Amino acid sequence: MKSAIRRIYTQMKMKPYEHPAALYPYHEWNLSEDRYDEENNQRSESVFALGNGYIGMRGNFEEGYHGTRGTSVIGNYLNGFYDSEPIVYPEGSYGNPTRNQAMLNVTDAKIIELTVEGHAFHLNSGQIHDYKRELDMKKGILHRLVEWESPAGHRVRIRIRRMVSLQHKHLAAIDYELTALNFEGEITLTSIMNGEVAKQEATDDPRLGGGNAEPNLLLEDARHEEHFIWMKQRTRHTQFTLLTAMSHTIQSVSDAQISETLDGERISAGFTLSMRNGETISFTKYISYHTSKDCAEDELLSGAAEVLRMAEQRGFEELASEQQAFLHKFWNRVDIEIGGDPALQQGIRFNAYQLLQSAGRDGVTNIGAKGLTGEGYEGHYFWDTEMYILPFFTYTQPEVSKALLEFRYATLGKARERAQVMSQKGALYPWRTIDGEENSAYFPAGTAQAHINADIAYGIKQYVQATGDYDFLVTKGAEILFETSRFWADMGHFNPAKGGSFCIDAVTGPDEYTAIVNNNAYTNLMVQDQLCYSYETARLLQEQYPHHYERLQQEIGLTEREISVWLDAANKMFVPFDEKLGIYAQDDTFLSKQKWDFDNTPADKYPLLLNFHPLVIYRHQVLKQADLVMALFLLGEWFTLEDKVRNYNYYEPLTTHDSSLSPCIHSIISAEIGDLEGAYSYFDRTVRMDLEDINRNAKDGLHMAAMAGSWMSIVNGFGGMRLYDGVLCFSPALPRQWESYRFKILNRGQLVDVFVDGQGAVYTLLEGDGLEIKHRDHPLLLSPQAPVRVPFVK
Ligand code: BGC
Repeated sequence: MKSAIRRIYTQMKMKPYEHPAALYPYHEWNLSEDRYDEENNQRSESVFALGNGYIGMRGNFEEGYHGTRGTSVIGNYLNGFYDSEPIVYPEGSYGNPTRNQAMLNVTDAKIIELTVEGHAFHLNSGQIHDYKRELDMKKGILHRLVEWESPAGHRVRIRIRRMVSLQHKHLAAIDYELTALNFEGEITLTSIMNGEVAKQEATDDPRLGGGNAEPNLLLEDARHEEHFIWMKQRTRHTQFTLLTAMSHTIQSVSDAQISETLDGERISAGFTLSMRNGETISFTKYISYHTSKDCAEDELLSGAAEVLRMAEQRGFEELASEQQAFLHKFWNRVDIEIGGDPALQQGIRFNAYQLLQSAGRDGVTNIGAKGLTGEGYEGHYFWDTEMYILPFFTYTQPEVSKALLEFRYATLGKARERAQVMSQKGALYPWRTIDGEENSAYFPAGTAQAHINADIAYGIKQYVQATGDYDFLVTKGAEILFETSRFWADMGHFNPAKGGSFCIDAVTGPDEYTAIVNNNAYTNLMVQDQLCYSYETARLLQEQYPHHYERLQQEIGLTEREISVWLDAANKMFVPFDEKLGIYAQDDTFLSKQKWDFDNTPADKYPLLLNFHPLVIYRHQVLKQADLVMALFLLGEWFTLEDKVRNYNYYEPLTTHDSSLSPCIHSIISAEIGDLEGAYSYFDRTVRMDLEDINRNAKDGLHMAAMAGSWMSIVNGFGGMRLYDGVLCFSPALPRQWESYRFKILNRGQLVDVFVDGQGAVYTLLEGDGLEIKHRDHPLLLSPQAPVRVPFVK
């Protein structure tokens, strides 16, 4: 049968494997454009976004835009900083969340306006003689170079470097260098902070989210201090405080005349000076953000003063060296090399870089579906974290994974409350959230996705097995596992109608094109795995950490009886299977529905969710994304290769990949069942999803799960890596399009380098004192710095 992805490519009149003309030229370590493209500017603003896991800044120009309406979405975000508004349901039902949370677009402090002899610089005026923008992923700096001639003929060269500091959570900096090329005269640089943030217009696209037009940030105060300017605002509903501050340094031959204005929510510092022909002035702006979520309200100002003072003392160049040093360490652990494919090489590095920029690292924030690059999905955190993003960090920077899991621990109380609202024991994690409360207003593709509980449990298990961090398991992870297992034991039931098997009814699996079903196979399999792991963890605590076991007995009333029920439920888990087809049924009724008529669905009707009522979709065998196929990957050792082939061949042609989370999982399973062409095609689509704007919505923010999924496609797909019984197993293959690839994996503090080319695989232990791994079922003992070569058998 023709594969779904090839069919869609054909419908879209695109051939697989051919990269469309590059939107951004292929460079291994940077992303650049040499022309300002107003029509696609919003997309470029996402792609050139900077962040440090706390501050996110879209790639907006300092001078703003004067083009057609909708040219730009000015965006500045702080991870975990939100406002909350009532959700209006024309027809409500009990237990629906009553208030939403939306990541706030905060005060824009990156504005720098320039006038040259009275003419304002912007890209829609005068003449542009040279333009280049470049994101340097080794240095962590966004560069812009513009040579501009004003309508009066004065020519200047402007070189702007922007960074959001990876070392200093609250700091961003812009260095603005201006050279007069053919005149002597007066220029003014005005550095502005604008607290009046325009909201995006509401659309019908459920992936964007709505909201009303009222401003969410209300001005409380704004002042000039001796060295800096600040503005204090409060969120309308959540009553959080935000303090944005900026300070400046300027180096020029003549002294600047300085003027400062406080004009409502727009405050500025102006620097007017006369320039000589050929002179270069250097202007640096430091920006800090602090909120009452990070520190006490009366410490906001001193926090800002301290950060700005530190930044000024170091200066832009020193901050830039620190940034480079940070990234040097990052790439040493994380880099993936692809030999012979510059497009994909660029794509995979860009994805790793953006993941670093967006993941919260403080244990109280997480990573939004679009990171800190745009407002799609309102900045919410989903299962994307544990199932897609966590593996990337677990095997490269486990400390980030730990922080992401700590967020779940920090919000366990809210998950307990949610389970109560749902008339259930234990804890139910929210499908989408910022501070731990459920935020999904459409429960069939929201709260019904209770599999999030099992996904979090799986993330904990993988993290502990890969790192050996038992301290996390016993102090935090176990409590999450037990409370979420309690939920399953209470919500599922031993069903006499199914011979006493344990059934889980009225849930939605990962595939959001099929909703509220009984016994979604993915959910039941993942819960089975979770219940076994919870049981094992309880036994581990009893035997090796009795003090923690007793603590949990007292604190959450853990009983011996419930632990045995978990094992019983796991043993008797019902997993729907169709004997005739020899495959797992996605759920109790899926296989009895009509198949979707793909042949008569034109390409412009995708994604289906924007073109058909949910019920029309629910009535058919059609998938938005990997569901059972995802379980084939996650619980790989439970299935034979033949099982995988049969199930994949059934579900793949029914899958639209309307969710960006889907192609990477299909790439992994294609590779496992030996279809390298299919694997490459799906990988190609995942790895450059945003750089080619494949889903045509990169403007709303980048697809974090797909980005992390592209890492999994190489490591777990082509590299065939699995962690079975705590042992790293590899089964590498080389797609014909590549000369070689290389990646690194951190396992319990030991760092392994895996290199694959046409001859075979080479495993090198870069850090650590000895590690046993498996290459295609054969055990290999790796000793430090002694490469082990395993040739491919022809
Ligand atoms: C997908 C979900 C995902 C969400 C956020 C939806 O389109 O169906 O699985 O969690 O996007 O990325």
